[in-house]
Amino acid sequence: MNATRIILAGALLTSGYAVYAKPAAHSPAPTAAELVAARQAGMDMSASSLTLLKNASTNGVPLKNLAFPAGGLAKWAAALPTLFADSTKGAKSDAKAEVFTDRAGFNAKAKVFVDATKALAAAAAADDKPAFEAALASTGAACKGCHDAYKVPPPAKPG
Ligand code: HEC
Repeated sequence: MNATRIILAGALLTSGYAVYAKPAAHSPAPTAAELVAARQAGMDMSASSLTLLKNASTNGVPLKNLAFPAGGLAKWAAALPTLFADSTKGAKSDAKAEVFTDRAGFNAKAKVFVDATKALAAAAAADDKPAFEAALASTGAACKGCHDAYKVPPPAKPG
């Protein structure tokens, strides 16, 4: 090895390259703040999906084309309770304390949401318009049913 090569090798080892080349350390569990950010993002996207589904249905989009967003809502409904892990109790969020003190009640609301979105996805796949419209209504009611009991309401608008 000539002097230039030795210097280059040394530079590589001490540079970021060497750091990134190390095997990744075992990733820690998500923090409470990360879980809150993930669930708030999921909630926002579920609101967008529901609006999309309502508008598309009103505008006569074939229901089979809505199976993907409807199925996504059903997946979200099933995953939702895990993002309200006990570790997030006391984290800055709009979840009421009752989410953690009345877990059975919260899970029951989540189950209503699961059932409504499953029916929504099934109706889309079956191209069943009356069932789809009914499931859209029950899905919206499931959002509201949980929020009324377990979400801090937004501040009243002035005026
Ligand atoms: C089982 C209970 C439950 C269901 C079902 C539920 N939510 Fe939520 N939602 C919550 C709670 C609790 C919060 C507050 C979360 C936080 O701030 O960490 C929330 C927050 C939100 C937010 C605010 C997110 C943010 O950016 O801070 C939106 C928007 C929202 N939900 C929309 C929906 C929609 C739309 C549905 C139905 C398609 C739905 N939610 C279903 C419990 C629920």
